[in-house]
Amino acid sequence: MIFESHAHYDDEAFDADREELLGMMRDHGVEYIVNASASVRGLYATVKLMEQYPFIYGAVGLHPDEVGDMTDELMEEIRMLCRHGKTAAVGEIGLDYYWDKEKHELQKKWFEAQMELAREEKLPLIVHSREASADTLDMVKALRGGEIGGVIHCFSYSKETAREYLDMGLYLGIGGVITFKNAKKLKEVVEYAPLSSLLLETDCPYLAPVPYRGKRNHSLYLTYVAQAIARLKGISYEEVVSVTSENAKQLFTRVK
Ligand code: NI
Repeated sequence: MIFESHAHYDDEAFDADREELLGMMRDHGVEYIVNASASVRGLYATVKLMEQYPFIYGAVGLHPDEVGDMTDELMEEIRMLCRHGKTAAVGEIGLDYYWDKEKHELQKKWFEAQMELAREEKLPLIVHSREASADTLDMVKALRGGEIGGVIHCFSYSKETAREYLDMGLYLGIGGVITFKNAKKLKEVVEYAPLSSLLLETDCPYLAPVPYRGKRNHSLYLTYVAQAIARLKGISYEEVVSVTSENAKQLFTRVK
């Protein structure tokens, strides 16, 4: 059974058929889903989803594009949400210099604070990092992210950077991009990294795999991601699904 480690089912792209789609998951081989919050609205929508569906767990935190909304009071609120029995991680948190919506200093301040929160609450991290390779790696090292545990979601950097995270014992999240023709760098990373360090993720509604590239993504398309990983590594589809699912259960210890 597939473990979906990163989805956004609170997104409005699912408003028309959310219930129908989520109702299909278990019958079609998706056993667990971690819904990652990004915005303030997403925090509460994630809690609602995890309370409504037994197989949905949540990650709570503010995305780097959204940290302009962060306050000390909201941090305390997120701390309370960490103590919800179905909260599986703190995330998605990190640095985004691609959209560059918030000043780098502000992004760093709240990335650090949310990493410390994860450490205190004994939850793993779901890290978002886009065009911020050096700063993310520096911070994760300096704050001993390996001790906290976590995943670099939608990993998009080089094999050398992958090695640094793997050496710290962190996981790499692999999604639809692995099926894209031009994803040479990511294919090298997947060939290089041990299967025991990979997690499957969609980041849906974004990043649908080929043959649905550009369309709305959802967790049932993870079969295409697992097939692409299997081909690159010369192993079976079943092995990819079962090992990545075990990896996710090791990391997200509240999922059961
Ligand atoms: Ni995401």
